[in-house]
Amino acid sequence: MKITVIGVGYVGLVTGACLAEMGNHVLCLDLDAGRIERLQQGEIPIHEPGLDKMVHRNAAARRLQFTTDVDAAVAHGTLQFIGVGTPPDEDGSADMQYVLKAARNIGLAMNDYKVVVDKSTVPVGTADRVRATIAQALAERGVKLEFSVVSNPEFLKEGAAIDDFMKPDRIVIGSDDERATLLMRSVYMPFMRNRDKLLVMDVRSAELTKYAANAMLATRISFMNELSLLADRVGADIELVRAGIGSDPRIGTHFLYAGTGYGGSCFPKDVKALVRAGAEHQVNLGVLAAVEAANEHQKHVLVDRVVQRFGEDLQGRTFALWGLAFKPNTDDMREAPSRVIVAELCRRGARIRAYDPVAMAEAARVLSHLDRVDMVDSQEAALEGADALLVVTEWKEFRTPDFDHIKTTLKQPVIFDGRNVYDPALMAAMGFEYTGIGRGARAARAA
Ligand SMILES: NC(=O)c1ccc[n+]([C@@H]2O[C@H](COP(=O)([O-])OP(=O)(O)OC[C@H]3O[C@@H](n4cnc5c(N)ncnc54)[C@H](O)[C@@H]3O)[C@@H](O)[C@H]2O)c1
Repeated sequence: MKITVIGVGYVGLVTGACLAEMGNHVLCLDLDAGRIERLQQGEIPIHEPGLDKMVHRNAAARRLQFTTDVDAAVAHGTLQFIGVGTPPDEDGSADMQYVLKAARNIGLAMNDYKVVVDKSTVPVGTADRVRATIAQALAERGVKLEFSVVSNPEFLKEGAAIDDFMKPDRIVIGSDDERATLLMRSVYMPFMRNRDKLLVMDVRSAELTKYAANAMLATRISFMNELSLLADRVGADIELVRAGIGSDPRIGTHFLYAGTGYGGSCFPKDVKALVRAGAEHQVNLGVLAAVEAANEHQKHVLVDRVVQRFGEDLQGRTFALWGLAFKPNTDDMREAPSRVIVAELCRRGARIRAYDPVAMAEAARVLSHLDRVDMVDSQEAALEGADALLVVTEWKEFRTPDFDHIKTTLKQPVIFDGRNVYDPALMAAMGFEYTGIGRGARAARAA
């Protein structure tokens, strides 16, 4: 099948590569000429495990190509997947300018039947706006052509995107049009050989499903983060509470980790956009407003602990930071809690020695306005001359470090563990002064 993917970011590039892997001929369009040039030269602009090999393999087979030529891209595919960004507007609602521009470009250039697939995360009603935008462009050209608009939200996780796309839990298709539904079913058939994973529903329900999924996951995180604050006060251990409730199949074990707050390009903006959509329709989504407020608060918790230990004035202090990306296995720094933590420590006069296994370049770019940050090239180097270690992202290589080396390199053996990677009792036994998130009971026992 000939497929066009519009917008070659995390979602677009993974979608294009995985569809090409199944034998389709995929042309990826982006208006960012630099990005397309790099891709044409075989350079992968994002870190995603397994993606580089898949892109190279399919590019070599000429099943995956990249272009900035809108006319050629629109002419190529019967299916036009839109995977452009939908960043938050000033009022928190999703900024639809990129989606609507992609739709208009399709309307201005198409010459035969197209199925336009909204893969970006978009507010309810977007398919109608996309349909109207294309119809308007066709009317301006004075031509009559058939097209369908379907919603196909993407549920992949950065860091495991290839696996998620190749082996999805479910594939949601919002479609009011039998012809388009059949085409979508045939595109996804190779991804569901063991069982039918297609959930076909009306377009509006599909659009809302994506926001509902992210809002639910964000809610679980904020719930545990709030409880972790209480656990600290009452002398309970949030990790034991997590195990205690997660074993209930009605609750399940996923997304129950207390930490430094959620970040990334999806949860923060999608929760905001849903709250905003509620307000537009006079529905108070109070739970989600609280989820967002709890998350903002949580990004400051680790710094609060540092201040409790070292005082409000951190002039002359240096802190080692392990992990900058918003989660492991990605270089994505969008809304990463590390950005708040670094800024808050610097604001109090501290110096930072920061290390991340893959996000160094991206972190250097987004933290370039702060002049007290040294980006160093190993986790060991981060410790040199530091008063304490802060673990901010739970990369695997931070889980079993050389604790003797940490102890002898830091000025004093102090660890603030923003991801509860270490065991408080073990840390105490090794002579560390250890602070996790919501580990009041075990910290107290260990002391
Ligand atoms: N990143 C994720 O993990 C993830 C997961 C699921 C869903 N989503 C959703 O998918 C969408 C894309 O997210 P992303 O993280 O891939 O975005 P991104 O910012 O990484 O990439 C978007 C790309 O679209 C390009 N673009 C913008 N307008 C264009 C146009 N008119 N024509 C062609 N290209 C255009 C940009 O240049 C950019 O390269 C968003 O709605 C997001 O919420 C993201």
